[in-house]
Amino acid sequence: MDVLVTGGTGRLGQRLAGPLQQAGHAVRLMSRRGTGPGGVRGDLATGQDLDLALAGAEVVVHAASDPQGDPWQVDVAGTRRLVQAVDRDLLRHLVYVSIVGVDRIPYGYYRAKFAAEQVLLASGLPVTLLRVTQFHDFVDFLLDTARRGPVLPVPMGWRVQPVDVGEVAQHIADVVGRPPSGGVVEYGGPEDLSAADLARAWAAARAPGAHVVATPVPGKLGAAFRDGAAVPSGGERGTRTYGQHLHG
Ligand SMILES: NC(=O)c1ccc[n+]([C@@H]2O[C@H](COP(=O)([O-])OP(=O)(O)OC[C@H]3O[C@@H](n4cnc5c(N)ncnc54)[C@H](OP(=O)(O)O)[C@@H]3O)[C@@H](O)[C@H]2O)c1
Repeated sequence: MDVLVTGGTGRLGQRLAGPLQQAGHAVRLMSRRGTGPGGVRGDLATGQDLDLALAGAEVVVHAASDPQGDPWQVDVAGTRRLVQAVDRDLLRHLVYVSIVGVDRIPYGYYRAKFAAEQVLLASGLPVTLLRVTQFHDFVDFLLDTARRGPVLPVPMGWRVQPVDVGEVAQHIADVVGRPPSGGVVEYGGPEDLSAADLARAWAAARAPGAHVVATPVPGKLGAAFRDGAAVPSGGERGTRTYGQHLHG
């Protein structure tokens, strides 16, 4: 099938071409500049070149996002533009990459992701809303950013279940070949860990000497993460652990 991946230059998007091609699909990777092999241009924030990018798409893997910029413009309004641009007669499956806990964790970016899910549910398109946990290399990035010299502060008691991005890409290629679920399905890594566990493992491998300090986070956001809102309750699991990622 003709598969259009939005967010084709992203952490996940870059990994999707291989497994999708191995499953026999023709893959195009959309981004704002459309660079690289299979690259096509399309801007969700403005709608520019979206019609061209979506022409002929039988499957869309929607993995574009703008967490650092304006997710209401890119993720929510952009998803609405995407829905308007798809060819409804051709489209067989739209897989949206969301995040476990977007319905429960009171965080602005997650609210936008949840709103984008609602746009897709209301669209009448054949969708699967795939909520995934944090990618291992995204965890690395967060910990590296959080470190202040020898001190590595992490939220006390937060539970996470990170996943290998390559396994997510393979899982998405599998999901593409299944009938659309019409709702939410979850996918996460193999281990339910505390943020402090992760940070200690990361520090030992990547920042020897850094001292992990678990810090209480008051309020509803902290409570949701402590309650396990970011940990999947169902769905399939990857097998690669965070430790294997650090030492692999
Ligand atoms: N990172 C995680 O741990 C994680 C965990 C669970 C779920 N997710 C979800 O998985 C998806 C992929 O995450 P990621 O970490 O791979 O994202 P990422 O590395 O931040 O990549 C974002 C992608 O979106 C594209 N993009 C941004 N603004 C755009 C616009 N206006 N029009 C078109 N494309 C635009 C970027 O392309 P250009 O900038 O090149 O145009 C890039 O390809 C996201 O929806 C995210 O919410 C991520």
